[in-house]
Amino acid sequence: MCKAVILGTGSCLPERTLTNAELEQMVETSDQWITSRTGIKTRRISGAGEYNYRLAAGAGRKALDNAGLTAAELDMIIVATLSPQKIMPSTACFVQAELGADNAFAYDINAACTGFTYGLDLASKYIASQPEMKVLVIGSETLSTRVDWEDRNTCVLFGDGAGAAVLGSRDDGRGIFGSKLRSDGRLWNLLHMDGPESQNPALQPEDWQGALIRMNGSDIFKHAVRAMSGVVNDLLEQQGLSVADVDLIIPHQANIRILRKLQSRLDVPDEKLFVNVDKYGNTSAASIPIALDEANQQGRIKENDVVLLCTFGAGLTWASLLMRW
Ligand code: ACO
Repeated sequence: MCKAVILGTGSCLPERTLTNAELEQMVETSDQWITSRTGIKTRRISGAGEYNYRLAAGAGRKALDNAGLTAAELDMIIVATLSPQKIMPSTACFVQAELGADNAFAYDINAACTGFTYGLDLASKYIASQPEMKVLVIGSETLSTRVDWEDRNTCVLFGDGAGAAVLGSRDDGRGIFGSKLRSDGRLWNLLHMDGPESQNPALQPEDWQGALIRMNGSDIFKHAVRAMSGVVNDLLEQQGLSVADVDLIIPHQANIRILRKLQSRLDVPDEKLFVNVDKYGNTSAASIPIALDEANQQGRIKENDVVLLCTFGAGLTWASLLMRW
């Protein structure tokens, strides 16, 4: 039976690096606090012209090159983002135009940091029914445009960037073979963007500063560890596997302390856990595809390796996905 398989990966990051030392000049914080509480040393911040859709298209182009495909061969483009280019039209339509993917249809999904994994699952279901399809899934964010740069609780955490994967099908046992997706909308207010209750511009408060990220950090921390370890265990059990059968775990890169707690709950050795949060911070929907591309380019994933993704984000949303590379 055919399964959806990743044929190529790519990523695209803004030029500018923002260091913890620079953040010390912007809010009351320190490199020592940020490093010890989050593991983040630097993050990338988009500059003039580095719009969400351009980062997304840059990552998509590299994934196509890596797969040996052209944009004209794409049937579908999914962009996962919570910082879209515009509310309408979708960022995916901008990407389609930028790439010249004239034969594809395109749309966005928003599942916050879980978006790319939801997108891979969605693409795998299309491909299961139409194995000839080629699908580009992108996670892309310009969170620097949604961060309150005066709020030290959040502004030190996030970064910009995009990552992408091109999917096709194979019938040799390789590919995506399991997933579990979860949401709990009752906990939406633990992590959200500020906004008036009414979307009617005439009813917005005069002092509203725009849609900026607000977070209850300690509650998010606890839910992230519990939800990710739970969904990974559920998925492994469903597939009759254990952590010992997995070659590489690529978790959402939110915070090194979340990752270390997850690692200890699941009993994962260091060499099986991919970490790059120190370089890019939390890039939300882009975090897993950027990490996946780095792991791929570094030769950390070999043919037939079992790769496990796991993620958690606003919504709340969380998910895990298994594939044989
Ligand atoms: N620099 C210095 N001090 C700070 C900073 C900062 N950047 N931010 C907060 N503080 C202060 C707080 O004001 C507080 O001070 P107070 O005691 O005087 O009130 C103190 O540090 C301790 O704050 P806590 O919230 O208890 O710190 P904690 O150890 O929980 O760390 C953090 C905060 C890093 C946000 C942590 O809760 C966390 O990582 N949460 C997960 C958040 C996350 O990853 N969100 C991303 C989105 S969701 C996702 O992607 C999974």
